[in-house]
Amino acid sequence: MNLIWVEDRDELAECAADQVVSLSRQKPDAVIALPTGRTPLGMYARLRHHAQHDGWDASHLRPFNLDEFVGLGTDDPRSYAAYIQTEVLRPLGIAQSRLLNGLHPDPTAECQAHEMAIRALGGLDLAILGLGANGHLAFNEPGTAADAGSRVVSLTAQTINDHQSHQTPAGPAPHTALTLGLKVLLESQRVLLLVSGQSKAAALSALCRGIADTAWPVSLLHDHPHLTVIASLDARATT
Ligand code: GLP
Repeated sequence: MNLIWVEDRDELAECAADQVVSLSRQKPDAVIALPTGRTPLGMYARLRHHAQHDGWDASHLRPFNLDEFVGLGTDDPRSYAAYIQTEVLRPLGIAQSRLLNGLHPDPTAECQAHEMAIRALGGLDLAILGLGANGHLAFNEPGTAADAGSRVVSLTAQTINDHQSHQTPAGPAPHTALTLGLKVLLESQRVLLLVSGQSKAAALSALCRGIADTAWPVSLLHDHPHLTVIASLDARATT
């Protein structure tokens, strides 16, 4: 694994955006899984800057989101779909994408359709991932097996609380979610993991130990042949 330590969130954003731009220059229609949360916001801002000022054309990329809350539709501002549309799809002029629909009457079928759409395009060229404090990837919570398919999951109390404290607009956080499974993420040609904040230090240490342990889903990434981790110094373990 290629672990890149950066000073702060600004440097993380720049470094991560450079990787996306470079991949899109090699493969303009790359199939990419996109994360939500606070960590990737700076990367998305840098990507918009590249598109607006450096003539970067992202319009042929084929993005998919990683996860969504059950019960939140694509128009709900709390949904991950709304986040990806606002941060990425509209400003970058990307027409061809697929976002999980949290209001789908059959959420299990919706997860399977999402994964099938990725597979129909030949799988992911790049999975960009954030990291949960408990080591979750997308919404693959602790205990998830490496061959897990895309599915509906119950969120842990920690994840619900983490989400509740940062959710805007405020409101009760959903307890169930749709997620891409670890299998399709681990099969991605490349994985880019973004880590920022002291609360992620234990999870990042679990990855760096190099022992696959389903108690820390992130540790299952360790043997991926093309894994890049960009971590800001505040996520470095202090003990
Ligand atoms: C949620 C998402 C994850 C994301 C995590 C971290 O749980 N489902 O995909 O990695 O949040 O978010 P943040 O970057 O805000 O810490």
